Parts: sequence; C-alpha cells; structure tokens
Amino acid sequence: MPVETTLPYGWYTDPEILRGEQDRIFRSAWQYVGHTGQLAQPGYFATRVGRTPVVVTRDRDGVLRAFVNVCRHRGFAIAEGEARRETLQCPYHAWTYGLDGRLRSAPRSDEEPDFPQDELCLVPVAVDTWGPFVFANASPDTAEPLAQALGSLPAQVAEVGLDVETLVHHSRWEAELEANWKIVCENFLECYHCQVAHPAFSEVIDVSPDAYVLSTDGRLSTQHGPLRTASPADELPRAQFHFLWPSLGINIFGGRPNISIGPIVPLTPERTYRFLDYFFGPDVETAWIDDLLAFDDQVGREDRTLVEGVQRGVASGALEHGVLMSHSEQLIGHFQALTAAALSD
Ligand code: FES
Ligand SMILES: [Fe+2]
Repeated sequence: MPVETTLPYGWYTDPEILRGEQDRIFRSAWQYVGHTGQLAQPGYFATRVGRTPVVVTRDRDGVLRAFVNVCRHRGFAIAEGEARRETLQCPYHAWTYGLDGRLRSAPRSDEEPDFPQDELCLVPVAVDTWGPFVFANASPDTAEPLAQALGSLPAQVAEVGLDVETLVHHSRWEAELEANWKIVCENFLECYHCQVAHPAFSEVIDVSPDAYVLSTDGRLSTQHGPLRTASPADELPRAQFHFLWPSLGINIFGGRPNISIGPIVPLTPERTYRFLDYFFGPDVETAWIDDLLAFDDQVGREDRTLVEGVQRGVASGALEHGVLMSHSEQLIGHFQALTAAALSD
C-alpha cells in the first residue's frame, strides 16, 4: 500500500487557502462560543464564529439570540466582552439596539426624512445549546440543527458517566499560537507524540497503541485512553478526547466529573486562537481541580512547542508534504479528507 501523505504544506501558509476555508468550512459550521452561565441574567457576551464577530444575548423573555457584532450604521463592533444590561449601545455614535436585535434609537434620526429604523436590525446568527454549552452558526438560513451537527457526541459523553447538565463553569484558558489552525487540530488528533513529548500525561494515561483507542463517527473523532492506575474514587475510569470537525476540541480526563471544551480559530494563515472553558461537577474538590489545570497547562506548553515547530518546518518551503502513520495517525487522515473535500466542493 502506498504511504499516505499529508495535505500539501502550502496549505498551511497560503492566504487563499485560508479564505476558502473561512468561506466553505467556518461560515457554515456550528461552533462553541460560550456557556449559559454567562447569560444567567439579561445581557450579552461578544465572541466569534470563524471570522464572523458575534454577540450572543439573553433578553428578559429568556430567549437566547445571536447577531453579527457589527453596527448597522458604519460597522463598528457594538459589544465587547460581556455585560448584564438591557441594551446594546454602539460606542461610535450611540446607536442603541435591544437584546432582540431591533434598533431602538439613533441620535438625530428624527432629523432624517424616512429614516428606516425598522429595517436596521442587527443581522441574526443561529444559536442553540447542548446542556450549558452555547453554539452559534453564522449561516442561519442554511444551518443544519445543532443536534445533527453534534452527532453521537452527547451520547458518548453521557456513556462515560458524565451528565453535562450538572457541570459548573470554572474558568477559561486562552492562547494564541504561531501555527496554522490545521496544525493545531492535527496535533490534537494523535497521541503518537504523547510518549515522546508528554511524559507526565503518559504516566497517567495508557497511551500504548493497544490500550489507546481511536475511532471516527461522521465528523466526530474520538480518542479513549484508560487511566494506568484507576482508584475506587474515580468516577470516570478513562479519558475521552473528542474532536468535532472542523475545529472543536472536547477533553474529559479520568477521575472526577470534568470537561473542557473550546474551538480552534484561525486568525491568519500562520496564527491561531484557542480557548477552553473548564467545567467540573459541583462536588469536585479544589485540590483535584488545581492539579488537573496544572497538568493540562503543562501539556499545553509542550504542545505549543510542537505546533510552532511544525509551522516553521512546513513554512520553510523546503518540502512539499509529509507522510502519515496509517494506524496511529488515522484521525489526521480523516480530518484532512474532510477538509480537502470541503475545499473542493
Ligand atoms: S458605527 Fe455604530 S453608531 Fe455609528
Ligand atoms: Fe500533545
């Protein structure tokens, strides 16, 4: 069998490729954007889906809505960060919108003949939830239902013994990496590097090829790793790492109820933004949480070195492509096939 090759290395630096990915992949994908705890009261939070700036709101009626975070006047970003308030006011000329997206007032509009106030609503974005997790999609007219996009993910998470409805948000981790978004995804999708590059991780989780199981189901890729030494106190006997194409990562470590979830977001061909929201069961001890965050932070720093090193290699132009290990890197093959198919559509 001929050896499987990676995507062409030019795809990791080419602005044209990224433009195609934004239009053909991210423009129509559901993406995790935040959690319901951010909107326990009427208010909003600003986020993004692909390159679309988005503001998610919850009005007094309790309904979640999302809009393109661009003012209908002259394009300033209306919302920044998050706030508990009943209106969205653009900082540029103070056009004021309701949390339902309707333009409520624009200074001096009474001096304008036939000012079309009713037509200047914020542009809607699709929004939906899975447990406490809020997702948005920048193509509301054509988006498939969120439940369809998630596929077997909720069932697989429930099957390991985790009830997402009971989880409490703990903290958010954020990072920018000097690497193409696909390199960050591909690094997530194999644990062939774990024994070599993550010694602490590999002491806790059995990363040997027989124990560490890879599977795919549609756009979902899953890695299962048993704990090397499970204790009777462990409610979750193994780790589950899910990846929902195009770029959502979900980590569940063994032990106490926990999950971290977040997207991998391209900024430029060679720069990527990530965030992870950490959630824990309501009874998980602070010491266990602190240990997990420290452990994950260590793995994250090791991975940064890896992905930024790969970016320098592929960007050198010295080689056309690399090769994939057919067993250990099968999830990368799956990711690359989905990505190439979306670009050639
Ligand atoms: S750009 Fe928003 S009020 Fe002018
Ligand atoms: Fe890693």
